[in-house]
Parts: sequence; C-alpha cells; structure tokens
Amino acid sequence: MNKKILYVLIPVLIIVALFFGTKGFGTLNNTDTSQTEPVVETETQTETQTETETQNAYDYMILVNKQNKLPEDWEEKVVLKEAVNKYGETKLVEEKALEHFYKLQKEVAEEEGVYMELDSTYRSVQEQQELWDDWTVEYGEDYVKTYVAPPGCSEHHTGLAIDVCLDIDGVRVDDNDDMIARKDLFEKAWTHLAKYGFILRYPEGKEDITGYGFEPWHFRYIDDAETAKKIMDQGITFEEYKAQ
Ligand code: DAL
Ligand code: ZN
Repeated sequence: MNKKILYVLIPVLIIVALFFGTKGFGTLNNTDTSQTEPVVETETQTETQTETETQNAYDYMILVNKQNKLPEDWEEKVVLKEAVNKYGETKLVEEKALEHFYKLQKEVAEEEGVYMELDSTYRSVQEQQELWDDWTVEYGEDYVKTYVAPPGCSEHHTGLAIDVCLDIDGVRVDDNDDMIARKDLFEKAWTHLAKYGFILRYPEGKEDITGYGFEPWHFRYIDDAETAKKIMDQGITFEEYKAQ
C-alpha cells in the first residue's frame, strides 16, 4: 500500500474508533433520548421493574392534611419518576409509589376486570393553587373546599397520592360524580390496595375527620402493607390511625 495513503488512513481510523468508543454503535440508528424519560407501556414496565431497595430520606407515613402542611424540606428530598399513562400524559409519582401502583393496576385489571389509570398524581403548590382557582370559577367555593386541599396542604405535594381514573370499555371516566357513580368498580379495587402499601385516603362517611368529600379514586401510598391492611380492614382514616 502507498505510504502516503497510510498517513491519511490511520488518523481517520483513530478518529472513527474514538467516536464509536464514546457514543456506542447503538446510537447510530436511534434518536438520542438521554434528555427525556423513556416512554414504556405500563404493563411491560411492571414486568421489568425490580424492587427499589434504598430507603429514601423521607417519611412515607407522613400525615398531610388541613392541619398539617407539607414539611418545607419535602420537595427537595422526594424522588419522583415520570410515568406515561395510556392517554399519553406524563405524570410524576414518587418512585416506590409508582412501582407498587403498576403492580396494583395489573392485579386489579387481571383479577377484577377493572382498568385504572394514573389521572392526577404529584402536584406542586403552584399547581394546586391553579387547580383551586380554576375549580372555584367552574364549580364554586363550597365544592372546591370539599374536594380540593388548600395549596400547601395537599397530599398530592408528597408524590405519594395517586388519583386514578377508570377506563371503561376504552372510555375514560374521570369526572368526580361519574366516578362516584361507579363506586362498585372502585370497591373491587380497594380490596387490593393494602397488599401494595396503599390506603383509601378519603372514605365515605368520614368527611368530618378527613375534612374532604368521599374520593373513591384517591389512593395514598404508605410503604407498609401490614399497616395499610390494618387501616383498610378497620375502615378507618389515616387521621384515626395516627391518633391510635
Ligand atoms: N383532593 C384532595 C383533597 C387534594 O386536593 O389534595
Ligand atoms: Zn387526590
């Protein structure tokens, strides 16, 4: 081979080798997704997920209500994960809560034929304020006070609260009154909550204790299946459990 050609060829080969060594060959045919979370089907995600083993530096049993605001350092500590629901909406949920929700969702669908989807999950104080303001205009002050926590006092700030909607024969049911009308479906789902560390946070008939109307859709992750079972079996609120 002509020596001059080698002088050109060798540096070119080195540059090419360095390029693929750092980028990897796999990226050639793919869009680089390093800036975005992967969008994975919920069911597939359940099967491939492994248990989160680390204990996070926050209290999963935290009580947040009208009398107990979110601790100031919560939002800097909480680990939120992105989740894409079947409607293509990206939601944020605390990592262990999400992991357990996927298992709950799968089991309820398979064993009860009830399909639940992530509807409203983590909400910042600002987002809660916007919700409060929008719903005040749309539904009036009394309704808002019954169903929306004052900004700073919502469990949704923790990332541990999940409002589900129902998917009935491919139709999304997410209106409060429509969901309450399908209490029969939620009742089936509630029997599976505790196993995955969730409780029903605003039960019917407990409005005076929780300070909110009946919300069959609002599940709260407490990271303790045994305690969740006690709460669900006794039919008590989180406030009552904490006061025991
Ligand atoms: N719907 C519940 C009470 C909240 O806004 O946090
Ligand atoms: Zn909620």
